This record gives sequence, C-alpha cells and structure tokens, in this order.
Amino acid sequence: MRYRALGRTGIEVSEVGYGAWGIGGKQWLGGDDEESRSALRRAIELGLNFIDTALAYGEGHSEKLVGEIVRESHGKVWVATKVPPKNLLWPARPGIAIDECFPYDYTIRCTETSLRNLKAETIDLQQFHVWNPEWLASDDWRRAIEDLKKSGKVRSFGISINDHQPDSAIDAIHTGLIDTVQVIYNVFDQSPEKNLFPLCVEKGIGVLARVPLDEGALTGAITPDSQFEKDDFRGRYFRGDRKQQVVDHVETLKKDLKGVEGSLAEIALRFCLSAPAVSTVIPGMRKTRNVESSCGVSEKGPLPADVLARVKQHAWDRNFYL
Ligand SMILES: NC(=O)c1ccc[n+]([C@@H]2O[C@H](COP(=O)([O-])OP(=O)(O)OC[C@H]3O[C@@H](n4cnc5c(N)ncnc54)[C@H](OP(=O)(O)O)[C@@H]3O)[C@@H](O)[C@H]2O)c1
Repeated sequence: MRYRALGRTGIEVSEVGYGAWGIGGKQWLGGDDEESRSALRRAIELGLNFIDTALAYGEGHSEKLVGEIVRESHGKVWVATKVPPKNLLWPARPGIAIDECFPYDYTIRCTETSLRNLKAETIDLQQFHVWNPEWLASDDWRRAIEDLKKSGKVRSFGISINDHQPDSAIDAIHTGLIDTVQVIYNVFDQSPEKNLFPLCVEKGIGVLARVPLDEGALTGAITPDSQFEKDDFRGRYFRGDRKQQVVDHVETLKKDLKGVEGSLAEIALRFCLSAPAVSTVIPGMRKTRNVESSCGVSEKGPLPADVLARVKQHAWDRNFYL
C-alpha cells in the first residue's frame, strides 16, 4: 500500500481508504456485521489506514463497527465521519437556511454523539454531510469548526460535497477553514478535474474520491436483471431503464479496455488514483475479496498515459441520485 498526504492536515493516508456506508446496514442491504468486521480487519492488515463513515450510516451502526475494529488495530487508523443535515435532506437544497441543516449547537452535539459511537477522544476528520454555498456568510459553521478544533474534539474539518456539484465547495475552500473535500470522482463523473482539483492542489486541500465504482456500476456487476432488496438504496439508483443504460456504457468501456491488466473495478480505482489531487479513494467494500482486490491497486500505480486517455473518453453526464 502506498500513502499520500491528506492535504495540509499532516495526516498520511493510504491511497485506498474504506468507504463505510455499506456496513451501516440500513441503506445497503444484504451484508452482515461479521462479514463487515472481517473486511475491515483485512483492509487494515493490507495497510489501509483511513476509514470514511458517518453518523447517518445505519444511525451510528457504521461508526460503532468502525470504532470497534480501529480500537483493536495496532497501528494508527484515521477515521473520518460526518454531521448529518438536521433536516435529513440529501443533497442540500437551494434556499434552505443553515439553521435547518447545521446550526451551531447541533453540529457540536452530533460530533459528541459520533465520539461516543466511535469510543474515541478525537475525530480525525469531521465533515458536513452536505453543503450549500449560500451558507458561506453564516457564523454557525465557522464557529462550530473553530470551537471543535480548539476543544480537541476534532482534528481537521471538511465538506462532503453535494452529488455531482464539485464547484459548490470552491468558495468554502477560499475561506481557509476547510481542510478536505469529499467528492464524487469516477470514470463517469470526471467533473472535479476542471476547477476543484487544481484549487485543492494550490491550497493544500485533501481530496477523498467517493463513489469510485459508481455505486457498483463500474464493477460490471449490474445487469438488466439485477434485483435489490426492498429499501436498498440501489433499487432507486438503478431503477427503470437505468440498468440497461449502465450495461451499454460499461460494455463500451470494457471494449476500449481490452488487454488492460486487472478487473474493471481495479482499473476504475486506478483511474481515480491517477489524479495527483486525490489523496485517497474510498470504495465501499463489505466483502473481503473486494478488499483484497481494491487494496491491491495501490501498488500498481496510476494508469499508463495511453490507457488513461482511453478511459477519459467515457465521462457520462447524468444524476441517478435524483
Ligand atoms: N454524501 C456522501 O458523503 C457520500 C455518498 C455516497 C458515498 N459516500 C462515501 O463513499 C464511499 C464509497 O461509495 P459507495 O460505497 O456508495 O459505492 P462505491 O464505492 O462506488 O461502490 C461500492 C460497490 O463496489 C463493490 N466493490 C468494491 N470494491 C470492489 C472490487 N475491487 N471489485 C468488485 N467490486 C467491488 C462493493 O461490493 P461489496 O460491498 O459487496 O464488497 C459495492 O457493491 C461510501 O462507502 C461512503 O463512505 C459518501
């Protein structure tokens, strides 16, 4: 496993981090806690030292599992979590004031709840789970960040940017209060490369590349017959003719990648790591075999220039979260 600086935080993170949404058990179904524990343990054994969870993932369940495994591990494992918007609406909607999402007292209270779930004294990286640039002038979020850092409850602070809106965090970065951004970045959504990534490099902002496998589409596992349990979020994400659209895009991509070493998922993760602005890529991995496959890509390094050029042709502008 190779490591990169998480921006200017002083933290060195493994190139492959662990996305802990799926292990929360409420929105991704079909997993179980023992399987999740084994996956987390194996990831750490392979050198992974960064986990991204959230208070909202299974209403604290993901944080509790992560805390348990991190406490039993020998080396340092950095943990990032998130404050859910108070109105529980993802993504942040225009015109909704910050007191409906991140009022000062609420942000402090959620951080304290996360600390209890994780059984930790400090959160290495706390993040707002949505962001709306209209909140920039408000005092609530600025004061919360400053006070949480001063009290030692939080070491660094970031924004998890609304789906497919990378530029919405640019003004917040310019305030100097934000240490990291978490953004959708994958073969299909390459939009952060345009404005966000150059600014992050310039300002020393850590970048967490989230949803690197497009919720499973970029593993090649989605077929027109894929079925999800009731209440599994992917049932909505891949609804109607979207499964067929995914198959069509993935088939064209695979044709272009003929002869390239590794599975589609591995190539998709290497694509993310080919961007120097990315500090860590955080696939969700409930299965140990997926942990082994994903962690293995770090040693392979960025994609060769000719392969990268081919992959770049496959950007696909759409929003399946709506
Ligand atoms: N708003 C936000 O802040 C937000 C929103 C979404 C996600 N996130 C973060 O980003 C993380 C990643 O996104 P995600 O988990 O939604 O989706 P993802 O990483 O794009 O895809 C996860 C899927 O890929 C499979 N997979 C992982 N590694 C694989 C490999 N090497 N080969 C084949 N299949 C593989 C997983 O299978 P198994 O699970 O069965 O192993 C799972 O089905 C989340 O866990 C969360 O931490 C944040």
